[in-house]
Amino acid sequence: MNIGIQLAYLVASVLFILGIKYLGKTKDARKGNVLSAVGMLIAIAATLFTLEVFSLIEIGAAILVGAAIGLYYSQKVAMTKIPEMVALFNGFGGLASFSVALSDFFFKNANAATSLDAINLTSILLSVLIGGVTFTGSMVAYLKLDGKVSGQPITFSGQHLLNLIFLLAFFVAAVLVFIDPSQEIYLYILVGLALCLGILTVIPIGGADMPVVISLLNSYSGMAACATGFILNNNVLIVAGSLVGASGIILTQIMCKAMNRSLMNVLLGGFGQTVATGGADGPAVVVKEIGVEESAMLFDSASSVIVVPGYGMAVAQAQHVVRELMEQCEKRNIEFRFAIHPVAGRMPGHMNVLLAEANISYDKLIEMDDINEDFSNTDLVFVVGANDVVNPAARTNPESPIFGMPILNADKARTVIVSKRSMGKGYAGVENELFGFPNCLMLFGDAKQTITKVVSELKDMA
Ligand code: TAP
Repeated sequence: MNIGIQLAYLVASVLFILGIKYLGKTKDARKGNVLSAVGMLIAIAATLFTLEVFSLIEIGAAILVGAAIGLYYSQKVAMTKIPEMVALFNGFGGLASFSVALSDFFFKNANAATSLDAINLTSILLSVLIGGVTFTGSMVAYLKLDGKVSGQPITFSGQHLLNLIFLLAFFVAAVLVFIDPSQEIYLYILVGLALCLGILTVIPIGGADMPVVISLLNSYSGMAACATGFILNNNVLIVAGSLVGASGIILTQIMCKAMNRSLMNVLLGGFGQTVATGGADGPAVVVKEIGVEESAMLFDSASSVIVVPGYGMAVAQAQHVVRELMEQCEKRNIEFRFAIHPVAGRMPGHMNVLLAEANISYDKLIEMDDINEDFSNTDLVFVVGANDVVNPAARTNPESPIFGMPILNADKARTVIVSKRSMGKGYAGVENELFGFPNCLMLFGDAKQTITKVVSELKDMA
């Protein structure tokens, strides 16, 4: 292959690696995105010079249609729907690798001038397996997250044995393809098995674990792309696929750790079912309510405030009004910080993104391990639409499904105000005994509406 194209691929690969490096820090994340996008542009442009089958016009038309669909959805999608969108992206990534592998197989089989060597066949089979599982698995994840099918785990006896039989059948059929690639029937069997495996492995996993599954499927889509890179003999695809595969696995591991679950425990499924029984919840908690006026007075008299944002802040889109609250407090010389739990919200970095969107400076966002000691010296903790991430049962109740999950020690503060609409449970579906603690006060109502009123009370007091 042309040396110029290889050099362009090398530059693109370096830009991808730098992009990922910058994505590791919130303040450099935009730079990371831009670098990666430039890398992708270079990779696409270089690939266009290697075209053999399609014309530039055909490829250009396909890029335009794809870009228009992408642009439309990027404008339309709500922040809370990003996990669904990522699930679809992963699925289509898997489908693309799967389709390229199949077309390469049929093309080489039908064309006497080309042959399928062992590396080629292995890459095709891996791409079909991983790409197929990613495609159907991601579609099930999307349907579950979007509520189009029940988020409850779907389990039946012998499920894991059935998965194992499908996997073994895949390997047997793969060996048969190796022995005689001209027997295309075996490839059709492989395709069916891979697609079924994707569905079977995701249906037993409950809605609460879907973000972990999506991160894992993201990793699979990278691995499928990497295998496809070997099929097409395309170095940049191998590098990009490996980066996605590795970073997806690392993220999956981080999320499992933050929820105190093993990956195996997530993949074997059934978590939501334990939760649905609610057996470990104990008696209902009795709570004390607070109004906006008294809340404003508590803010006014505090000298230190920590805000714990959660999924409800994203639903209410309350981040901008939380910034106004911060401005009111800072005018009064009140120390004001945010405690960020690694799995608050519904996707990694969810709270960081929302708060950055509201122009809240990064140095105010403190990670869980760095702020947990400070809660006991804090006058007021304001929990905005968070629930599971401040549930003390994770520390104290071995019966609770979330026992062992690291949480923010909000309950240790002198006073806690919780902004939420009702006594509704969080994602894990368990009661939160914090709401009944003597130092806890409930500010009921939509977070954006109630905090707006608290801010206007504070303005009146100034
Ligand atoms: P949750 O425990 O899900 O609680 C969110 C709370 O927000 C709910 O209790 C709800 O109560 C409240 N809420 C909803 N809409 C609201 C509104 N408009 N105004 C005010 N409050 C509102 O949230 P969390 O504490 O952020 O925990 C995240 C959960 O997701 C954890 O269980 C975590 O393990 C799970 N999870 C997260 C991730 C990632 S990567 N972030 C991945 C996997 C799993 P009301 O209905 O009463 O208002």
